[in-house]
Amino acid sequence: MQNKKTEFGDFQTPLELASTICEKIKLFGFQPHSIIEPTCGIGNFILVSLKYFPFVKRILGYEINKDYVCSAINSIKSLNAEKKVVIECADFFGNDWENIITRLQKPFLVLGNPPWVTNSKLGVMKGSNLPDKKNFYKYTGFEAITGKSNFDISEWMIIRKIHWISGQHAALAILCKTSVVRKVLLYAWKHDLEIKEAKVFFIDTKTYFKVAVDACLFWVVGGSSSKKVCQVYRHINDDKYESLWGFDNGKLISDIASYNEFKHLEGDSPFKWRSGIKHDCSKVMELRSINGLLVNGLKEVVEIEDDYIYPMYKSSDISKNKLSLPSRCMIVTQQHVGQSTNVIQQVAPKTWAYLSCHSELLNKRASSIYNRSELYAIFGVGNYTFLRWKVAISGFYKKLDFKVVPPYQGKPVVLDDTCYFLYFDTREEAELICRMLNSDISKNFFSSRIFWDNKRPITVSLLSQLDLLKLAIELGLKDEFTNGINIS
Ligand SMILES: C[S@@+](CC[C@H](N)C(=O)[O-])C[C@H]1O[C@@H](n2cnc3c(N)ncnc32)[C@H](O)[C@@H]1O
Repeated sequence: MQNKKTEFGDFQTPLELASTICEKIKLFGFQPHSIIEPTCGIGNFILVSLKYFPFVKRILGYEINKDYVCSAINSIKSLNAEKKVVIECADFFGNDWENIITRLQKPFLVLGNPPWVTNSKLGVMKGSNLPDKKNFYKYTGFEAITGKSNFDISEWMIIRKIHWISGQHAALAILCKTSVVRKVLLYAWKHDLEIKEAKVFFIDTKTYFKVAVDACLFWVVGGSSSKKVCQVYRHINDDKYESLWGFDNGKLISDIASYNEFKHLEGDSPFKWRSGIKHDCSKVMELRSINGLLVNGLKEVVEIEDDYIYPMYKSSDISKNKLSLPSRCMIVTQQHVGQSTNVIQQVAPKTWAYLSCHSELLNKRASSIYNRSELYAIFGVGNYTFLRWKVAISGFYKKLDFKVVPPYQGKPVVLDDTCYFLYFDTREEAELICRMLNSDISKNFFSSRIFWDNKRPITVSLLSQLDLLKLAIELGLKDEFTNGINIS
């Protein structure tokens, strides 16, 4: 039963929240002649909309769960509204939507709260609540936007719904994850769908659904407009929006006003941002120094040669207010990706024996990249890994705070793959770049592009958008930058 609830992303909207949303739509001045709720559940949105939109002529509700359909039909009967409202048992992925939508009297409203489940969750559960593959790829570019591996089922549904209202006298009011809204907006703007207005109101899901999810009411009006912006409101009752999401150069922008102010700093950075080392086996590859002994994640004392051991920091170290001395180290088996690891056998036999002893764990690393690689291979490694000075930031933590990472005990410190960094030969270079990156101007530049509720708000692609030479000029540090930094 719980599995079914999960597979169908079943979180029924409470009447109170459905009322608040319909009241809001009424305040916007939108008076629909028809309403459609494509995954209506027990029908709370439909019941409430009868009250708020008394002039509506037709309401259509569809739902896959037969019990919910019965419950919704009974509620409608108790309100004597059967003439206006039709509820049918139907699978969203099988319905002939084009036919249904063209017959709706305008203006029409697409209302509801689509299922909260991802395809990968369905994969784990062996659930089948998915669109047919042929249909799925019909929407050009969809796979490129979502990333094929994991997406919300609601994302696919809302993209279809946006097509229904594009350029029409129609609107959409949908409860969904904020991350889904961003993907849908990016899709709509990239494909020049005709949207006149878009708004997002954050919703406290703990109060209404007893789960903590970054979710919102997504309001979109069809029609033509040259502006690609979305007003973002902290709370559904707020009158003033707190920021404007926008679109520029194929990217979604989190604060369009600030983005425009700092956009002139955008450009190809003379430095290449890198992410730290990926090994996917911290139990074996990461060692802690405890009372002078090296201990792995399996609580074994490890006695190996020093050659392949490097001090390391993780995201949690980098995000501390002040860096402490490294308390962990990493076994770095290669100097660059693809390098043969056989040499370890001769140079450091104890290290090889340790790795061989744990080969079962190392060989069953989940990512398929390891299948085609050298024994005990790692990724995200190259000359840059071994430069002595680094400027690093965590991709996970929700703050813009760059740190100088100095060498430790004569060795460069390496970072794990949740960190991003630039790399230098000297302390002076690292300190200057770090100072520049921590300036208000740089932070404003990045902030205007960051969505803090993303799992990894900071990425290499974001960091690479700032041209450090332009930043140096803006900060009055051009001479220090051009004379002091080795750009190789
Ligand atoms: C998040 S609940 C919301 C229900 C209702 N819209 C509301 O706001 O209360 C999602 C609903 O979608 C239904 N559902 C899931 N997959 C569906 C599908 N493929 N076709 C139609 N309905 C589906 C679920 O049974 C569930 O009732």
